[in-house]
Amino acid sequence: MEKLKKRVEEIEAVIHAYMPVAEGHAKTVIEAMNYTMDAGGKRLRPMLMQETYRMLGGNENIVEPFMAAIEMIHTYSLIHDDLPALDNDDYRRGRKTAHKVYGEAMAILAGDGLLNYAYETAAKAFDMTEDLSTVVRAYTVLTQKPGIYGMIGGQTADVELTGKPLTEEVLEYIYDNKTGALIEASMMIGAILAGAAGDTVTKIQQLAGIVGRAFQIQDDILDIEGTEEELGKPLHSDEENGKTTYVTLYGLEQAKAEVVQLSQEAVALLDNIPGENPFLRELILSLIQRRK
Ligand code: IPE
Ligand code: IPE
Ligand code: MG
Ligand code: MG
Ligand code: MG
Repeated sequence: MEKLKKRVEEIEAVIHAYMPVAEGHAKTVIEAMNYTMDAGGKRLRPMLMQETYRMLGGNENIVEPFMAAIEMIHTYSLIHDDLPALDNDDYRRGRKTAHKVYGEAMAILAGDGLLNYAYETAAKAFDMTEDLSTVVRAYTVLTQKPGIYGMIGGQTADVELTGKPLTEEVLEYIYDNKTGALIEASMMIGAILAGAAGDTVTKIQQLAGIVGRAFQIQDDILDIEGTEEELGKPLHSDEENGKTTYVTLYGLEQAKAEVVQLSQEAVALLDNIPGENPFLRELILSLIQRRK
């Protein structure tokens, strides 16, 4: 997809414009925040947000502070996920992890800084609209999905159950929350800001959850079969940590089949929603073959 590269560049310009300048007595923490934000990454969450917004008729820049905010929250989750106390990984987005470069204390603070700055950034949308109630609804989703009933909940079970056997039900809880929740937030916020009706937002949430589950299964597959060069992060992190994943439970072949099945399911749901966005459709299907 030639278009993909251009979209990523556009998204990076939006994100960059909202990042803080490293200066003053808090310079070091801001540098550490920018270090991981600028390292790249697929920018999938802001892309899904913007494309959902466009699909449902949105055409203003109100979505932009939210795009930057979701990428900040995602990046904070990566910085903390890589810490020695969690997955203990040394590479991320093709660079040494934040804690390897700035030390653990500064990496913890950089994660905290990104999380908080995400809300400061999204709050800028309050001054960009006449329709405050819509923006407040989007903001509320941004407060909920990364939290204990979302991403942090999933990370908690992931960390606590590392090295222990899991039931299918708990594994699904982990995937739907540690990864699914931020993808749900991305697409739901796009839909809400575009003025979608409540039942459309519910359908978007459902399909985004399916995309999230497929995305995490593929992440687990790539942890075994990918290349460090393409991924920009270490292989075999899950095995070293003794994580139970979809692959350890069901094997590689079934995991791959599940990614295909879930992605097709997500696209079928997308096709049932009023509004069209061929790029979004193609993007979701392209995640089946992703190598990074
Ligand atoms: C990695 O997310 C963490 C997971 C939820 C699997 P991405 O694979 O989207 O990471 P970046 O943003 O491209 O670096
Ligand atoms: C990602 O799960 C979950 C979050 C960062 C919230 P992983 O631990 O599998 O992600 P990677 O493989 O380190 O990117
Ligand atoms: Mg992890
Ligand atoms: Mg990890
Ligand atoms: Mg992983």
